[in-house]
Amino acid sequence: MLGESSVHTDGCTFPPGFVWGVSTAAFQIEGATAADGRRPSIWDEFCARPGAVVGGDTGEPAADHYRRFAADVALMRELGVGAYRFSLAWPRVRPDGGAVNPAGLDFYEQLVDTLLAAGITPWPTLYHWDLPQALEERGGWAARETAYRFAEYTEAVLGRLGDRVDTWTTLNEPWCAAFLGYASGRHAPGRTEPRAAVAAAHHLLLGHGLAVDRIRDLAPGARAGVTFNLFPVTPVDPADAADRDTARRVDGLQNRLFLDPVLRGHYPDDVLADLAPYGLADVVADGDTARIGTPLDLLGVNYYRDLYVSAVPDEKSGLPSEWVGAEHAGFPDRGLPQTDSGWDVNAGELTALLRRLHTEYPRLPLYLTENGAAFPDRADADGAVHDHDRIAFIDAHLRAAHEAVAEGVDLRGYFYWSLLDNFEWAEGYAKRFGLVHVDYRTQRRTPKASASWYSRVMADNGLNGRR
Ligand code: FCB
Repeated sequence: MLGESSVHTDGCTFPPGFVWGVSTAAFQIEGATAADGRRPSIWDEFCARPGAVVGGDTGEPAADHYRRFAADVALMRELGVGAYRFSLAWPRVRPDGGAVNPAGLDFYEQLVDTLLAAGITPWPTLYHWDLPQALEERGGWAARETAYRFAEYTEAVLGRLGDRVDTWTTLNEPWCAAFLGYASGRHAPGRTEPRAAVAAAHHLLLGHGLAVDRIRDLAPGARAGVTFNLFPVTPVDPADAADRDTARRVDGLQNRLFLDPVLRGHYPDDVLADLAPYGLADVVADGDTARIGTPLDLLGVNYYRDLYVSAVPDEKSGLPSEWVGAEHAGFPDRGLPQTDSGWDVNAGELTALLRRLHTEYPRLPLYLTENGAAFPDRADADGAVHDHDRIAFIDAHLRAAHEAVAEGVDLRGYFYWSLLDNFEWAEGYAKRFGLVHVDYRTQRRTPKASASWYSRVMADNGLNGRR
C-alpha cells in the first residue's frame, strides 16, 4: 500500500510472530438489528429511551457491517490486517437467551470463513455488552441465572465454530458491563443500583469461568482468555493519606476486582471490605472463585487512559458518597492533551501497566486488545481524512508498549480500536475512532491517513524509526 521500505534501526520492532490486528464489536457496527431472527438486546432498549444516547442515535444503521462484512474483510486484507477481533451478538445466537437461532450462527460462520479465506485470524469475543433484553427482564447480570445462560450461549457458538477458531475471548470489559450498566446507569441497561452492579460483576466473572469450561470441552486445542479495561491509578497528592486511599479503592474496583479472582483465584481482602456494604461476599457461592480462577492461556488488555484521582468526589456522578469507582473519584485537570472523548493522553502509563501485570500476576501472554482514540476528524473535499493526531496517538502507545517488551514483558499483540468509525455507546455516532471513515448516509468507507500508516506498521512489524 505504501512504497518506501524501512531500515530496522531504532529498535521499535516487535518480536517475530507479534499479532497485528483491529477490533470492533457487534452492536457498534452490524446494524440489521431485526434481521434473521435477532431480537432486542439491552442496548436496543436503552437507545430507545429519550436522552440516553447523544443525538438519539441507535444501533441502526451503524456501519451496516452485517450486510457489508465481505467488503470489510476485503478492506482488512488490503490493509494487511493479521487478526480481526470482533464480537458475536448473543441476541442473534440465542435471541431470547433460550433457544438457538441457527441463522444467527450462519452469519458468524460466514464471517469466520471469509476471514480464514483472506488469511486473517478470527479473534472472537463472546460478550461485548449486548445482553438479550429478555434476560435483563429476568434480572440481567444481577441475577446468577444469567451466568448459566451465558455458558449455554457459549456452548452454541463453540458447537458451530469451535473447529476453526484458535483463540476465544469470553468477556470484554466486565467493569463497564457491571458498573456503567448497573451503578451509574450510563450504559445499558441504565440501572442505578450499586448492589446490583456488584452482583453483576461477580456473575459476569462466574459466566466467564463457566464459559472457559465449555471452551475446554468443545475446542480442546483452542486458547481461552478474557479482556479487561485496566487503568493505572495515581493519587493527585501521594503525600495525602486520603488521596492515597482513594487511589487504592479505585485500583481495587477497576483492576483488582477482576484481575485477582481470574488470575489468583480470590477476591482481594480490601476490595471485599470496601464492597461489603454492597454485598459482594453475599453473592459468592461455594466453588465460585475456583471456577472463576480456572487457568487461562492469555489476557487481553484494553488501554485508553490512566486515572489521576483525588479524594474529593465528583458530585456529578449521582452515586452514593461512599461509592468510590472511577465514576466517583475526583479527576483534576493535569493539562495533558485530551482526545475527543475528553480522556487524557498518557501513553507512558501503558508501560507501567504492562510491567505491573508482568510482575504482580502469574505470567500469561498479554495482548493489547484495544487502544485507540476519537478525534474530530475532518474530511477534505475529496473525502480524505488526514488524522495525524491519531497517528501520533498510536505511535506513542506502540513506543510505550515496545518499552515494556524490551524489558521482558510477554506482550504478543496489538489491536487498534477500531477498524471503522462506529456507534460509540452513549456517545452515539459523534465520536469517531476508526482507521476507516464511515459516511453513515451512504455507508461509503474511506481509509484515513492512519489506515495507510498502520498498514505499513503491520507490514514492518513495528515503527522502524518512522514518524
Ligand atoms: C471500550 C469499549 C469499546 C469502545 C472503546 C472506545 O471501552 O470496549 O467498545 O467503545 O472503549
